[in-house]
Amino acid sequence: MNSQSIGIFDSGIGGTSIWREITSLLPCENTIYLADSKNAPYGEKSKEKIIEFSIKNTELLLEKECKLIVVACNTATTNAIETLRNKYNVPFIGIEPAIKPAALQTQTNSIGILATKGTLSSSLFSETSEKFTSNIKVIEREGKGIVKLIENGNLHSDKMTSLLQKYLNPMIEEDIDCLVLGCTHYPYLIPQIQKIIGDSVKIIDSGLAVAKQTNAILEKYQLRNLTANRGSLSVAEVKHQFYINTNKEVLKSILSDVTSSFYVDELEF
Ligand code: DGL
Repeated sequence: MNSQSIGIFDSGIGGTSIWREITSLLPCENTIYLADSKNAPYGEKSKEKIIEFSIKNTELLLEKECKLIVVACNTATTNAIETLRNKYNVPFIGIEPAIKPAALQTQTNSIGILATKGTLSSSLFSETSEKFTSNIKVIEREGKGIVKLIENGNLHSDKMTSLLQKYLNPMIEEDIDCLVLGCTHYPYLIPQIQKIIGDSVKIIDSGLAVAKQTNAILEKYQLRNLTANRGSLSVAEVKHQFYINTNKEVLKSILSDVTSSFYVDELEF
């Protein structure tokens, strides 16, 4: 059981930012990652569709005998995790925009949130936002078009720069000092975002928190890969499998700097 993989899914390649945090904190765990790029962006789909895709991804990960599932997508978490938790008997870890840490850290009492339409319009997001930001100005912007550009391999493009300027400049005008990245694709844009907002604005994302929570849940349910912990399995033997339902090149390219060994393939799902 314990050598079974951690299953991770996202609407596309963005959740690999979470995979990086998880594998860096838990180097002895096997992983299986699903990029549902065929259906990206989830952020512009209905709640029903997002639930349908999340169920499909979960069932594939369960067929592959994953011991725990990380929903590495804010949009899928805020719209579907409750349904997944009610339907399946496996632990789920989700990711939500880090509003609370931003609200605790702001000095200007003004924070920015960049996320998808699906996340910003979800009731889970509104509840969290209401709970932690009652005395704080929150500038929300939908990052329309950003996920598509990343999925198409246009991470560094003039179009990306102009979209980021369009969404971030109004936040700068409102004197934000914390920017919450509410989509797992966005950490790949941090250098570009920091250039626009300046060094005095702190960028906050939830990747490390998700990895720590994954660690805590593995501990709680005694699911840690003990074979590896005992030393009979070295980190070099750990298996990382990535599956994508469109062309695998874009996934390979986002992982091009990863030094641990991994396997990428195309799969119909
Ligand atoms: N990575 C997804 C998220 O965290 C992107 C959503 C989308 O596909 O629109 O929200």
